[in-house]
Amino acid sequence: MMQSQTRQIPLLDLKAQHATLREEALSAVTRVIDAQAFILGKEVQQLEETTQAYCGARHAIGCASGSDALFLALLALDIGHGDQVLTTPYTFFATAGSIVRAGAELVFVDIEPRTFNMDMNRVESALARHRRVKAVIPVHLYGAPAEMDELMSLTAKFGVKIIEDAAQSIGAEYKGRRCGSIGDIGCFSFYPSKNLGGYGDAGMMTTNDDSLADKLRALRVHGSRRRYYHEWVGVNSRIDALQAAVLNVKFKYLDAWTAGRQRNAALYETHFREMDVAVVPPLPSASTTRHVYNQFVIRAQRRDALQEFLRGRGVGTDIYYPLSLHQQECFASLGYRKGDFPESERAAAESLALPVYPELPQEDLRYVAESIRDFYRQS
Ligand SMILES: Cc1ncc(COP(=O)(O)O)c(C=O)c1O
Repeated sequence: MMQSQTRQIPLLDLKAQHATLREEALSAVTRVIDAQAFILGKEVQQLEETTQAYCGARHAIGCASGSDALFLALLALDIGHGDQVLTTPYTFFATAGSIVRAGAELVFVDIEPRTFNMDMNRVESALARHRRVKAVIPVHLYGAPAEMDELMSLTAKFGVKIIEDAAQSIGAEYKGRRCGSIGDIGCFSFYPSKNLGGYGDAGMMTTNDDSLADKLRALRVHGSRRRYYHEWVGVNSRIDALQAAVLNVKFKYLDAWTAGRQRNAALYETHFREMDVAVVPPLPSASTTRHVYNQFVIRAQRRDALQEFLRGRGVGTDIYYPLSLHQQECFASLGYRKGDFPESERAAAESLALPVYPELPQEDLRYVAESIRDFYRQS
């Protein structure tokens, strides 16, 4: 018998966050509107300066979305037709989509089953096999950094660039270094559900390289450094000043929110242990010194039935991601088959994201854990 539904616990409650800063956010937005200063300007500059300091990078350049950040990063590194780019098939579509959009050839390497991040043991043979690889895009999935030291030594050996997909990982640290400051270019998303989310789409690129920064800044305005003179063919991908104003307000709270996510993740792990629940969250690698838990994901047997059971109990969950990218219809021409990336396929069949947002009441979190225990006890 399904227990009568007493609670409604969403996967993410952005209204709870908004309630805590509504006046501040509205006055920041009003300030921009009153000044009629919508394109780049003061708010954007402030956000870029805050981001570069926060991420420990020399430069931060705002753009329209995390997807555009990846695309512009590839353009800045002159990657296009005839080049190959390596990434994992277990990520949000934009990681792979940006590679194809840039005209390059997409090459996948499977994930490591404990962390769900790129399996660095497979990278060397992939680089040896695919000699036209010009860049690798490791994804710091769910807020936990990929294994960067190994990747950096391999890319140095093969003369290949690194674009970090840090869309889910602002503030995450690998051996004390912040994501986005380790590779050649870091890409961030301020999509509303990210740890630092705007009131719409927005993104950011970070780099320690002065000339790449200069080029990225130009590429987001049609490749021009001087108005109406174009050195490169870029795109229109500025970060909206209204979004920058909201993000400048929110940035002050980011560390407290991250601490709330970390507390909730630790609570889940304690409850699972005490309740003897057999679900295994992907473990951050040993080199993760700060996991920021954009998602708290478990690997669950009979995942779909569990998700349905939790829905019946009023618990919101989601699947990041239900279909490994090598199996997507739009990539059929690449010739990949089911079974080519077994760990990604297994993750797609078993992963389930639970509510971990900072405002989640602790009794609700306990209720989620108890509901999972009940599912495995009953069936
Ligand atoms: C891993 C990853 N890469 C790229 C993106 C793209 O970011 P955006 O939605 O801002 O375009 C996202 C977020 O949606 C993401 O999670």
